[in-house]
Amino acid sequence: MSTTEKLSSEDLIKMEEKYGAHNYSPLPVVLAKGEGVHVWDVEGKHYYDFLSAYSAVNQGHCHPHIIGALKDQAETLTLTSRAFYNDTLGPFEKYVTETFGFDKVLAMNSGAEAVETAIKVCRKYAYERKGIPEDQAKIIVADGNFHGRTTTIVSFSNDENARKSYGPYTPGFINVPYNDTDALAEALKQDNVAGFLVEPIQGEAGVYVPDEGYLAKVRELCTEAGVLFIADEVQTGIARTGKMLAVDYANVKPDIVVLGKAISGGVYPVSAILADDEIMGVIKPGQHGSTFGGNPLAAKVAVAALEVIKNENLAENAYKMGELFRKEMNRIIDKTDLVTKVRGKGLLNAILINDTEDSSTAWDICMALKENGLIAKPTHGNIIRFAPPLVMNEEQLMECVEIIEKTLTEFKK
Ligand SMILES: Cc1ncc(COP(=O)(O)O)c(C=O)c1O
Repeated sequence: MSTTEKLSSEDLIKMEEKYGAHNYSPLPVVLAKGEGVHVWDVEGKHYYDFLSAYSAVNQGHCHPHIIGALKDQAETLTLTSRAFYNDTLGPFEKYVTETFGFDKVLAMNSGAEAVETAIKVCRKYAYERKGIPEDQAKIIVADGNFHGRTTTIVSFSNDENARKSYGPYTPGFINVPYNDTDALAEALKQDNVAGFLVEPIQGEAGVYVPDEGYLAKVRELCTEAGVLFIADEVQTGIARTGKMLAVDYANVKPDIVVLGKAISGGVYPVSAILADDEIMGVIKPGQHGSTFGGNPLAAKVAVAALEVIKNENLAENAYKMGELFRKEMNRIIDKTDLVTKVRGKGLLNAILINDTEDSSTAWDICMALKENGLIAKPTHGNIIRFAPPLVMNEEQLMECVEIIEKTLTEFKK
């Protein structure tokens, strides 16, 4: 088989099955092209993308401003390593820190790497500035968390599928229930607590939005205890929830913010942590890094991606479209008992399917949605996450609502 031969969706699925590790179970759709809120499969069938690569493609597929920056920089300079300075990293660092109101940024590549970076900075700060005895620092995390796939991160996951058989696990983490400030206050009484790592909305767990006041109370408790509040905004950040950061709803400033995914518009792997000088100052030359972290291509792409968010008012649009979407979903919920609830903020939403977690109903609904021209994916069995690109306009959204309504009302278990 020559590599230029036109392969069908079926051929390409079989190829992945045969030659790739089976670490995902994709919906059987093979995408070949994307533009804005639209994607097309190998056979040319059109779909609305309702996942946005797990909230990485907030700016829409192949946004011309971001792709323009990528092309320009790709022809100029791609990688220098941090052994030398380059002419793009400084401007990126200035732009990002000014955008989010922090003194410093540390750029990495994947979301998980940025979370690891936050954990390292938090521990180092605890030993060097707070006098916690070496190797004794503890970080509090929330049940149901998803922070990535590295060995340390899966050590404190409650998702058995993500965690099992990857031990021995990294010690030093305390789990508390999510959205429970009493439990957090109790855990903060333990000795040697260095930080609290939390998602402002739990995305992978099924779009769990905490109670109003939760994040403000978290800030208050962490400040009182002298413990770092680390907000993982890898999925919720960059306008996804209707604000630049989801913590902006609570008007709080975490000590460390973790960003990834849409900081590059899904064009190139870029992640980062933000912190003020006192905290970021613990990292000295040789103590952390990555060959590709903050490379010229990443730096240029990330600035362009953030410019799109600002220039196109995507936070405001996500807020407005999200309100409309939930209103429409509630209207549909009144008509069908297949769906029990819609929840979310901005354009990070989920519907709860009225069936057991181990049933295939949510998957079957996603298959039916696909047939009708909209692609989304179940998360945790009976929850379907709906997270379209933030460039979606009202007319497109209403067309998607029509597809969802038709699919749900015609669906037979
Ligand atoms: C909140 C959160 N943190 C971290 C990650 C990990 O990001 P990556 O897959 O880029 O490593 C994810 C990915 O879904 C996430 O949702």
